[in-house]
Amino acid sequence: MTSTSEAMDTGDLIARAEEGLGLARPEIVHLLSLDDPAQVEALYQAADRVRRRCVGDEVHLRGVIEFSNHCRNNCTYCGLRRDNAKLARYRMEDDEIVECALGIAEGPCGTVVLQAGEDPAFTAERLCGIISAIRARTPLAVTLSVGRWPYEDLKAFRDAGASRYLLRHETANASLYESLCPGRRLSDRIECIRHLKRLGFETGMGCMVGLPGQTVEDLASDILLMQEMDADMIGIGPFIPHGDTPLAGHPPGDAEMVLKMLAVTRLVTRDTNIPATTALGVLRAEARKRAFSTGANVFMPVYTPKKYAPDYQIYPGKAVSVHEDMPLQEVVDYFSSIGRPIGAGHGARRKR
Ligand code: 5AD
Ligand code: SF4
Repeated sequence: MTSTSEAMDTGDLIARAEEGLGLARPEIVHLLSLDDPAQVEALYQAADRVRRRCVGDEVHLRGVIEFSNHCRNNCTYCGLRRDNAKLARYRMEDDEIVECALGIAEGPCGTVVLQAGEDPAFTAERLCGIISAIRARTPLAVTLSVGRWPYEDLKAFRDAGASRYLLRHETANASLYESLCPGRRLSDRIECIRHLKRLGFETGMGCMVGLPGQTVEDLASDILLMQEMDADMIGIGPFIPHGDTPLAGHPPGDAEMVLKMLAVTRLVTRDTNIPATTALGVLRAEARKRAFSTGANVFMPVYTPKKYAPDYQIYPGKAVSVHEDMPLQEVVDYFSSIGRPIGAGHGARRKR
């Protein structure tokens, strides 16, 4: 039910958000709660204009290598969790990882993302060797997505040549976080994100949408936390239940809510780099494309070798790689068909 005055208020709110005047918590909640299709469309269009104004039309590609699916943690939502005995575990060799990065460097990606569970077999020293080899042999920017590490190790990664780091905060609701990630605390994760910022990493945060018990207020807190921490990159995807985890029976997140989160995040954070996540595509393939008109400007093709990719099963249906279901040329052609050129260079955040 939408009265005219409510519609005008919403229009006014979207206009103010578009100008960059910032949004208070109740305003964010209001925008995330919109369900009138015309208003939702107006929200998306405003986010799309801000995306164009603040980060341009270019889509930046980041090539992902999922180099180990071992994890010492036991997050209840994740298929890589320690207690999932059904998963076939793999670790790539150091040389294999570097070779894979050399392959990425031949294509259109300016960045490689080294991603894995928290695997103790990859010591800081070993990771530093891989980072410096990639930096010595390619022009790629190196992004790490390897979970929580002590300050000294993060510093070593930075010194070895890594310049970006993705560490989703998962949810800004501390008690929800703690119920989903046994034995871990949200405050420690945020502390680690602060270390990353202090060390000069371009830092990625992010959350899942549709976690059991998560409210729209929690989602507003996610956006406000990422704004407060000045996240440079922001990954937002739906929760997708995995059959071999304790959350198997829970419903998945709502793709439309993810799109609204992307749009409001773009309106609030302006010049951040925001990917259309794989999880969104798994939930609804066309929603991942749609994300490029609701705020997203980054695409992260998976380059994990064929023989390993199916086992990087954070959630079901994820094994979509450039080697099989998603040839990179198709991706590039798609972006060119919607008037979005592929970004040249590293695609770093454009600082205000
Ligand atoms: N559904 C969607 N995203 C998930 N992640 C982990 N498990 C799931 C799931 N079941 C996300 C988390 C993590 C990233 C690597 O994947 O946000 O940080
Ligand atoms: Fe490990 Fe990350 Fe999965 Fe948690 S979400 S179990 S830390 S891979």
